[in-house]
Amino acid sequence: MKPLLLSMLRPRLTGHVFGSALFLWPRVTSTNDVLKEMAAEGAEEGTVVVAEEQTAGRGRLGRAWLAPPGACLLCSLLFRPRLLPTHAHRLTMLCALAAAEAVEGVSGVRPALKWPNDLVIGAAGRWRKLAGLLTESGVTGDRLDFVIVGIGINVNVTAEDLAGLAPDATSLMAETGQEADRAALLVTLLDRVEERYARLKAGENPHAEWAARLITLGQRVEATTGTERLVGLAEGVDEDGALLLRTPDGGLHHLRAADVTLAPPVP
Ligand code: BTN
Repeated sequence: MKPLLLSMLRPRLTGHVFGSALFLWPRVTSTNDVLKEMAAEGAEEGTVVVAEEQTAGRGRLGRAWLAPPGACLLCSLLFRPRLLPTHAHRLTMLCALAAAEAVEGVSGVRPALKWPNDLVIGAAGRWRKLAGLLTESGVTGDRLDFVIVGIGINVNVTAEDLAGLAPDATSLMAETGQEADRAALLVTLLDRVEERYARLKAGENPHAEWAARLITLGQRVEATTGTERLVGLAEGVDEDGALLLRTPDGGLHHLRAADVTLAPPVP
């Protein structure tokens, strides 16, 4: 499989904010952690950290994110947005949409989004996870110092290696039977982020487009939070990305973080 090379990437990113400062490492703990340190030292908006391997890749809810070396796209993007901290999720929405567009542009595979931050392939109930996003931010008072969006896409992971990742994991290679061009995927991703971020800064909110692409909505789901397990109808998402779950007692729950699976049919 082809390694990512800065000499190939840099010329394709001229004129971009995202990627003008691009750092590519053979191995890091976690691209989010590396970029967080850089952000604390004053790195500029648009700085991107990419790695071929992570020794401590992180997913949501404190989970490990596993990826075979050299087979995936593992990257983190730095934003310094003028947004309220409660609106930071707009950047996750924007990046999820950009990642979905990049995947489709490079491979022809059209991923859906699964609340909160997954790119999945397949219909509701039979979805396979292709990618995940992990957003972390630094806040001072009511101001966002930085937002880091980490993106992990399973690209050229063989069917054999997928088994070691997660039971529901898939990759572009598993979906198409072909090796995908990771450099093209990264360049397209940064290009799409750049364009969408400009629109966000001009006042456009990605919420409606993001919500329209969420296959979770309209489904009867089971949501597990740190403290409770709720079953109900995923009715919608609010402006800040929380899932609106209607339980049989009529209650409407705003869930900010949870694991969501399809609930079994009512007996
Ligand atoms: C999830 O689905 O739980 C989120 C996964 C996010 C993984 C990416 S890989 C690049 C970046 N660095 C990390 O440690 N995590 C994110």
